[in-house]
Amino acid sequence: MPVAYVDMCGIVGYVGGQDATEVIVEGLRRLEYRGYDSAGVAVIASDGVQSRKRAGKLANLEKALAESPLPETTVGIGHTRWATHGAPNDVNAHPHLSEDGRLAVIHNGIIENFAELRDQLSSGGVRFLSETDTEVAAHLLAVELRDSADLTEAMQRTCQQLRGAFTLVAASADDPDTLVGARRNSPLVVGLGEGETFLASDVSAFIAHTRSAMELGQDQVITITRDGVEITDFEGGPAKGEQFEVTWDASAAEKGGYDLFMLKEIAEQPKAVADTLLGRISEDNQLVLDGLTISDAELREIDKIVVAACGTAYHAGLVAKYAIEHWTRIPVEVELASEFRYRDPILNRQTLVVAISQSGETMDTLMAVRHAREQGSRVLSICNTQGSTIPRESDAALYTYAGPEIAVASTKAFLTQLVATQLFGMYLAQVRGNFFGDEIRGLVSDLASMPNKIDLVLDTMDPVRELARGLKDARSVLFLGRHVGYPVALEGALKLKELAYMHAEGFPAGELKHGPIALIEDGLPVICVMPSPKGRSVLHEKMISNLQEIRARGAFTIVIAEEGDEGVVPYANEIITVPAVPTLMQPLVTTVPLQVFACELATAKGHDVDQPRNLAKSVTVE
Ligand code: G6P
Repeated sequence: MPVAYVDMCGIVGYVGGQDATEVIVEGLRRLEYRGYDSAGVAVIASDGVQSRKRAGKLANLEKALAESPLPETTVGIGHTRWATHGAPNDVNAHPHLSEDGRLAVIHNGIIENFAELRDQLSSGGVRFLSETDTEVAAHLLAVELRDSADLTEAMQRTCQQLRGAFTLVAASADDPDTLVGARRNSPLVVGLGEGETFLASDVSAFIAHTRSAMELGQDQVITITRDGVEITDFEGGPAKGEQFEVTWDASAAEKGGYDLFMLKEIAEQPKAVADTLLGRISEDNQLVLDGLTISDAELREIDKIVVAACGTAYHAGLVAKYAIEHWTRIPVEVELASEFRYRDPILNRQTLVVAISQSGETMDTLMAVRHAREQGSRVLSICNTQGSTIPRESDAALYTYAGPEIAVASTKAFLTQLVATQLFGMYLAQVRGNFFGDEIRGLVSDLASMPNKIDLVLDTMDPVRELARGLKDARSVLFLGRHVGYPVALEGALKLKELAYMHAEGFPAGELKHGPIALIEDGLPVICVMPSPKGRSVLHEKMISNLQEIRARGAFTIVIAEEGDEGVVPYANEIITVPAVPTLMQPLVTTVPLQVFACELATAKGHDVDQPRNLAKSVTVE
């Protein structure tokens, strides 16, 4: 049985006046977060398509290009790949060529009927070199091109035969000034420069060249030349893309003097939070959520909210539950998007589904969105990426303004997701009359002070780094929290798993005695996220009891506590202090030391922090 290779990769296509290989490799560098199992580039030269491809990170391809440069041309395509199974090797790397070598194709997604098509093509005499589903598209396109002699038409006919999710971009030696792309269920955006045009999985690949962009709709084929684009549907009928300006600038996607993207992105958190608040709070501290295309009347009808998200975004959803329920008294369920549609959830017109996603492309979350809309629910997405699929398929979108997040482990996007969900919760309370004006004003000014508080945390991270280095050989680390501190504990543990490849678990501190306390042994590091001693002091007292329980059993306790919290001193081996903030906003400050801790510990272990093994930033397969 053939092995199905599944890609959720980065794609770049270029037609213009510059050296194509250079532009493409630079674009791939920005897309490498999408996958780094292999990389490849193909250009159209005078004697046909020429390509280089290598297993492993982009650096391997760059080395191959340095040893054996491609001819200087102005049209080409490039790809960086993430494989779910099978050995990622040179042969399975993209681009894939037609048998005569005159056509090159790159692909992101899964061609579900590839086995069937492959059998058909094989019995027609086509020889396959790789085990990928992509190669089917290359050969199919070659067959269609023989029949129609027009690359666009051949692409339309090819797409009509494919099932599943795919973005395809093809270059043909017989049509050397043109690229043709197509998309179904996978992302493809267009960059419209001066005398140059780009195709890419996301805008970060071309923002160094142009900020004028266009998003393609579902089931569209696009033909690009250096001067423009033409769009059709899969049947050849006219179609239109939607133009937009990218608000990021190119420098936002560079490391800007930091050793790691993750360090840069941790440092950018005050700005990311401030940018997400920008324009959403009026002069008189009222909330204005432009772009929220669900009417106030509809918001008043909602009787249940379901948050669907994955990974770090799911943790943001868990925090959102505390805030939204508290402020609006609307019940909020939080669901891992990959589980959501398989349990037959109860959804109707009065249910609002909130999908949280940094990339806007996570397939599990997208499927949850589609399921919710099929059941008649309204969907609001909270997303960081303009032109991405999830907001496009939602009823309304609330954007976070974290800027491009390149490191695979999410940091600044998480903090902005916390802010966006809270803005939404407050807005809902405002619209539904749960709040008096001055209550809103108070909360809004608390939120507005958060960038400063996060800055204060960032200024005091040296001891955290030292602590992390000292624990680099620990076998396991536990994280405990209560109330909103519980999702923070989960996030701290996830960061450590992702980056340090270390056993780490987050628990609600009260649940410890029901099982996990058996894990505590002499010297085991346990990081405790303390509630504020003020206000919810019952929780603080309970957490102190939990601290005592684990200290009595030999745990090495690292306590994240509000400044001035003297109560924890007798039970803490180490204390990390954070500024006092309202309870529901605490995750905005308590998460930061945990990000720094994981980043530093993984660095001390010698790991690739920005591109951890086995992971990809945007998981576009289910
Ligand atoms: C991947 C990433 C995680 C991220 C999750 C959700 O698993 O490795 O860091 O939290 O996807 O991504 P999204 O783009 O939907 O927020």
